[in-house]
This record gives sequence, C-alpha cells and structure tokens, in this order.
Amino acid sequence: MNTSTHDAPPAFSATPLKGQKALVTGGNSGIGKATALALGRAGADVVVNYVSDQPAAENLVKEIEGFGVRAYAHEADVSREDQVVDMVARMVRELGTIDILIANAGLQRDAPLTEMSLDAWNKVLGVNLTGQFLCAREAVKEFRRRGVVPEVSRSAGKIVCMSSVHQLIPWAGHVNYAASKGGVEMMMTTLAQELAPQRIRVNAVAPGAIRTPINRSAWETKQAEAELLRLIPYGRVGDPEDIGTAVVALCSDQFDYVVGTTLYVDGGMTLFPGFATGG
Ligand code: BGC
Repeated sequence: MNTSTHDAPPAFSATPLKGQKALVTGGNSGIGKATALALGRAGADVVVNYVSDQPAAENLVKEIEGFGVRAYAHEADVSREDQVVDMVARMVRELGTIDILIANAGLQRDAPLTEMSLDAWNKVLGVNLTGQFLCAREAVKEFRRRGVVPEVSRSAGKIVCMSSVHQLIPWAGHVNYAASKGGVEMMMTTLAQELAPQRIRVNAVAPGAIRTPINRSAWETKQAEAELLRLIPYGRVGDPEDIGTAVVALCSDQFDYVVGTTLYVDGGMTLFPGFATGG
C-alpha cells in the first residue's frame, strides 16, 4: 500500500528547474559564475548580479542564453539596501517573479587581528552577511506574494546561502571572513525555521577549497597546491562546477524535503584530516 501523502517526485530530469527564475549574486566569476551556468543549463532563467567587471557578466549572459533560457546582468552592491530593493523589483518586473535566490556574493579582506582595519571588518560583514540578509528579505517578500505554483515547483521559493567550511573551521588571519560565515549558518537556520511554514526552503552550501580567483594563492603554485591538498582527504582541489551541481540539486523538487541544511561540498575538508594520523 502506498502510504505517501503525495505523489512521488518526478524522475531526475536534465532540466529540473525549467521555467523558474533565479538570481545569483556575485554571479559573474568563480563559484557564482559556475552556479549561474548550472542553473541556466537546468532550465532556469537567470539574473547575473555583479558589482564589477560588466564585460564578464555580459559574456556570461550570452553563454547562459545558449541554453535557450532568458538571462540578463544587473549591477548592484548587495550590501546596499536601495540597490538590492531595486534589483529584486526589476527582476519581478522583467521576469515576472523570483523562484530561486543564490546568495553567493562574498569576499575576503584578510589580515591578522591587530592589523585588521574596521573598514576591512565592516566590508566583509557587509557583503557576506548583511548582503545575504537583504537579498533574502526582498526575495521572500515576492515568494510570499506569489505563493506555491504547483506547475513550477512544490515550494514557494528556495534560498541557497553560499557559506564556507569556515562556518565550522576557525581560520586564523581571517576573523572577519570566518565570523561572516558563522553568521551565515545561524542566519540560514533561523530563516529556514521562520519560513518553512510558508513553504519556503532555505539551505546553505559550504564549499571547501575551490579553484577560483578568491584563493588563487592557495593553489596556483605546485607547492601551494601540495600544502592545500594535505587539508583535503579526497585529494583534489574543488572545481566551481562541483558547487553549481550541488546548488541545482538543492533547488530541485527532488530535494523538496531538505530544509535548513548545510551541504558541505569540500572533498572532506571538514573531516579533521589531521586526525587521520594523529590524536
Ligand atoms: C575561502 C577560500 C579557502 C577555502 C578553504 C573558502 O571559504 O574563500 O579562500 O581556500 O574556504 O579554506
């Protein structure tokens, strides 16, 4: 006897996000770029937010349009309330709604504590944490206005917060960054708890060391890469596509019951590899 209260989800499809509208902040490079491409390939229309390097954003838009979906680039600083409000309002105007928010924009301004300026602290918290809050707030207003449209998705909206292994692993010399990602974890779970009754799913992806411009110095020489690999049990540095794939999965209806979870995509970095031979 089938005791399920609903129909089984459809089989895995190549375009699980067909007809959905996705916003990727910091979408023109690194993890954001791979994620924007993955969403487009999965059938979503994509807004590529960027704060600098407009040509990169415009080129990416063309690439995404190659999947037969709509896309455009939108310049906005996610730490600025007025710019975030305008960005989401334009998306609703031009694409009709927003179904998926990938709160990805993030940066590092590294320094030992006594050399860290208040500006460097505020900048990182402003983009990495406040930026996610502002984007989530504006997206959720639209999710609630629209509600669930069963032909499109089982939920009224999905938010994926881009976190980091450093929501868990302390990181000397990066206190602003680690604090921002620790904040992202509690923001994400709190929002998940608050919004789940409205059929809004909030989750996070926590990448480990992914080959992108943000950590170029950690992988660009053979020696640096060898040192980095000591922290990665799986024995390879991650590719941005590893994250894009995980984001698409989390946003798909196949993952409809995944709420308030952090998916670590880190080749085992959070498994305390030092203890494989010590402790
Ligand atoms: C940071 C990278 C770092 C990685 C693993 C990421 O969140 O942005 O610079 O390589 O964590 O430590």
